[in-house]
Amino acid sequence: ISLAQCNTLGLPARAGRFLDVTSIEQLSELESWLKQEAAPLLVLGGGSNLVLADDLPGVVAHIAIRGWELMAEQDAEVVLKVGAGENWHQTVARTLESGYFGLENLALIPGTVGAAPIQNIGAYGVELKDRLRAVEVFDRQDQSIRQLSNAECRFGYRDSIFKSGEPGRYIITAVELVLNKTPDLQLDYGGLREALSGIDAPGPLDVFDAVCRVRRSKLPDPAELGNAGSFFKNPLVHSAVYERIRADYPDLVAFPEADGRWKLAAGWLIDRCGLKGARDGSVGTYPRQALVLVNWGGARRADVERFSSSIREAVLDRFGVELEPEPRFYP
Ligand code: EPU
Repeated sequence: ISLAQCNTLGLPARAGRFLDVTSIEQLSELESWLKQEAAPLLVLGGGSNLVLADDLPGVVAHIAIRGWELMAEQDAEVVLKVGAGENWHQTVARTLESGYFGLENLALIPGTVGAAPIQNIGAYGVELKDRLRAVEVFDRQDQSIRQLSNAECRFGYRDSIFKSGEPGRYIITAVELVLNKTPDLQLDYGGLREALSGIDAPGPLDVFDAVCRVRRSKLPDPAELGNAGSFFKNPLVHSAVYERIRADYPDLVAFPEADGRWKLAAGWLIDRCGLKGARDGSVGTYPRQALVLVNWGGARRADVERFSSSIREAVLDRFGVELEPEPRFYP
């Protein structure tokens, strides 16, 4: 079957075997079969962080496990368990409608709830790890259902145990979120305050609207133009590297980290190489955000690879900094 509609870059991948997983019980059966056949597995959520090859081996399992359950309620907080297959943005909207706050900065991020912990999604000063209590997983090693605590998930910037610690071992079935009943807004991210400047005492819904507005103004809607969001991570560099670049480029955009390193804005680096809006055939950088690679139509994995390599080389040449792709290349 064709997965062109199942990945936001819109790459024309073909899967030999495709399975919709709607219950945890299906996973044990699937796992036994995979072991017997020694077949590889791709776990698919919204397909918003994937660069797929033309032909996919083994099985593609689309996680469609639903669920919304209030697990605990206290004076100030609630714990909410949400199924991995739920849409992330709709979940954010539903929490706000229910009077549970804390996810408003993470509005409009494409993909599913179950995919969110894998790269610890983050935007506008908030990361998923700041709002997450635990992740429910199917452990493929012993076919058990387990809880991984926030600490056990080993979250980092766009990273977790699911992405780099033990990739492939766990299938995420649900996520437990800790949300506030009284708003506690995070407005530190530059563009956000500006977007809220006309509003007197902004509430969570204003933040939600502002984040949606800012995102729509610089990020392409995957339904209209294929893309996988930021294509590279913002590189973390030592202060010596930061100082060296800043000496030549005083307008360098960078943010200090707690450990003394600096996080450079990769979009700015690409932009300053003159590559904002650049294009090689079917693939290019988005004219309004150089960090986003877009499929202008008909792109395949090899085109994305070629173009992203040329971007990395340009940035390495000019700034001596390595960019690391954010999406997963499979296989
Ligand atoms: N910039 C440029 N030129 C560009 C793009 C950006 O000069 O073409 C400058 C901007 O002017 C700004 C700075 O770079 O001063 C940062 O840009 P922006 O605010 O757009 O954020 P970002 O660092 O490019 C990160 C995340 C986004 C997230 C935003 C907001 C990563 C890799 N990306 O982007 O996440 O929405 O911050 O918090 O960390 C994603 O991961 O897919 C994603 C969209």
